Amino acid sequence: MRETGYAVLLLPGDGTGPEVVREGRKVLDALAEGAPAPWHLDERPGGAQYYQAHGREWEPETEAAARAADAILLGAVGWPGVSLPSGDIAGAALVLGLRQSLDLYANVRPCRLYPGVRHRISGEYRTVWSPEHVDLVIVRENTEDLYTPMHGRLRRADATEAAVDTRIITRKGAERVVRYAFELARRRPRGAPRDGVKRVTCVDKSNVLEGCRFFRETFDRVGREYPEIERDYAYVDAFTQWLVRDPEQYNVVVSTNMMGDIITDLASVLQGGMGFAAGGNIGEAHGMFEPVHGSAPKYAGKDQVNPFATFFAVVMMLRWLGDRHQDGRLVGQADRLERALARVLADGSARTYDQGGTVRTSGAGDRVAGAVRAERA
Ligand code: IPM
Ligand code: MN
Repeated sequence: MRETGYAVLLLPGDGTGPEVVREGRKVLDALAEGAPAPWHLDERPGGAQYYQAHGREWEPETEAAARAADAILLGAVGWPGVSLPSGDIAGAALVLGLRQSLDLYANVRPCRLYPGVRHRISGEYRTVWSPEHVDLVIVRENTEDLYTPMHGRLRRADATEAAVDTRIITRKGAERVVRYAFELARRRPRGAPRDGVKRVTCVDKSNVLEGCRFFRETFDRVGREYPEIERDYAYVDAFTQWLVRDPEQYNVVVSTNMMGDIITDLASVLQGGMGFAAGGNIGEAHGMFEPVHGSAPKYAGKDQVNPFATFFAVVMMLRWLGDRHQDGRLVGQADRLERALARVLADGSARTYDQGGTVRTSGAGDRVAGAVRAERA
């Protein structure tokens, strides 16, 4: 926090990233109307398309700005056919790079179905779950596992003979993310929708993998410090069916990086799709918030995608900043935005194409900005 307010760095990135971040900005501006904004927005380019044009993923000053920022809002990165010489996606510096360099060890992905939101199975809109069935948070480890850059190829003559990715689970990495999950369960006002019980489910493959056995041991060791919270276990394969079948039994779920990546996309179906899935990449000193959907090249420039995931990322960001700096203004603004979002979702007036509606990205942003104005601080 400085005189100009909290420094918020916006990294719109590629494809539809800039379109949803523009709407996020509109909503932040609406929240700040009528009083000096408690934040200061600084927007900088970067990503795969930037790499294509400039031969670098971003400017060196942008990385410094990310380190200096109080919070970061990221759009999305990635563009078809553009990759780094290493083979990694171009734009990785903004997402995978910052997760590592800012040590954002917990990727927190809430999954909640709001009244009025439709969800889809087999291409049809159905009512399988209602909001009282879906209210969980998946905490994904965000710095290790198969995502450490310890991989390579064995090349003989002109051919690749083998490729290796190393799966690393460390004591420190497992311990801090598991602790994050238990602390979150302690803080959340409600337990699982089914029975109100505060519960943390460890999702792993400890029947096969040594790293997962270690992760689960760590889960038990740390979890014993929280006797009021139930410890629950699921192998990841079985978890995928239970999640879809009985989402109401889950409260907080913790998993390793790669498995967490996969199960959070699956979970998004329960909350209306990727258009609603937001995540916070959180460490001790930094926080970066993002819609979980990618750059969606197919929809880029069409003013068509659903910006709600970005709005929910903004809610998470404001709440995280407010909690961290014990600043009630920010928490109040997070609550206000969340109320406005719930109201717009309930009245169905901002349904984009993925919800079977015709509202544009910018139209949904206008609608939410209007609801923010109507919602008192
Ligand atoms: C996510 C994304 C990223 C990941 C990609 C874009 C590198 O899928 O945030 O879930 O794999 O973590
Ligand atoms: Mn993913």
